Amino acid sequence: MMSARHFLSLMDCTPEELLSVIRRGTELKDLRNRGVLFEPLKNRVLGMIFEKSSTRTRLSFEAGMIQLGGQAIFLSPRDTQLGRGEPIGDCAIVMSSMLDAVMIRTYAHSTLTEFAANSRVPVINGLSDDLHPCQLLADMQTFLEHRGNIQGKTVAWIGDGNNMCNSYIEAAIQFDFQLRVACPEGFEPNPRFLAQAGDRVTVVRDPKEAVAGAHLVSTDVWTSMGQEEETARRLKLFTPYQVNRALLDLAADDVLFMHCLPAHRGEEISMDLLDDPRAVAWDQAENRLHAQKALLEFLVAPAYRPA
Ligand code: CP
Ligand code: NVA
Repeated sequence: MMSARHFLSLMDCTPEELLSVIRRGTELKDLRNRGVLFEPLKNRVLGMIFEKSSTRTRLSFEAGMIQLGGQAIFLSPRDTQLGRGEPIGDCAIVMSSMLDAVMIRTYAHSTLTEFAANSRVPVINGLSDDLHPCQLLADMQTFLEHRGNIQGKTVAWIGDGNNMCNSYIEAAIQFDFQLRVACPEGFEPNPRFLAQAGDRVTVVRDPKEAVAGAHLVSTDVWTSMGQEEETARRLKLFTPYQVNRALLDLAADDVLFMHCLPAHRGEEISMDLLDDPRAVAWDQAENRLHAQKALLEFLVAPAYRPA
């Protein structure tokens, strides 16, 4: 029964599969821009469990399912039995008997693995405390569209060694690029992810060193969801890690700047950075839609046959 294909991490796909998903994302974007109706997931239903807030992830999955001919159902733990302590495994058995795929945004990554272990349909990680693989599909699609293949390029991650950073580490392995992480002491990415990456990833203290000659610079909020009580302390410690135009000037001439959003101008980025011609954050956000439609097409079985 548990034979469904899941997407909890970039490591759940081969490098070839990931490349074909992001290329397909660009094709689906083109179809939509040309107004072509493409509904391979007619009658298919995606359940979306959100334990944390979201704008992009919810919209892109919900709009994406509708555009592919299916439907999406938003499930908040506040109004389901999940929030009243029904075991995750039980929820997975029941939900996966009625749905064709389930997307989950949660705190502990083990919620995803436990759900997936009991689900008969694909489970997609819409962000956990450990990883944000869907965002990386969009980021990699965006790089491909603007600059071509990222293989062999140098990427700088500036700031917190958080869920996004961990997914960048996995992307370095799967898409074969060098990653330099610049973070304050005590905010390094999880050693488990670093160990997997070997010499593809280096951790430094100085953001200038990380950015030197880089082809892509990316950052994220200093305080992730669930860490709100650490905000004041983090604001102080992360101040030297703000990405601004002067820092980007140290990168390659054709550098791209990405931010998964939401952004806090004046904190992890300068007030003007998203207006800089090197910033592609809006394309990146839009590509969540296209990349995840490609992911849904890849994971979810196509339409039912007529009776
Ligand atoms: N980047 C991202 O996942 O945004 P949301 O939190 O709005 O979904
Ligand atoms: N690191 C951030 C990403 C938000 C999309 C968080 O987890 O809150």
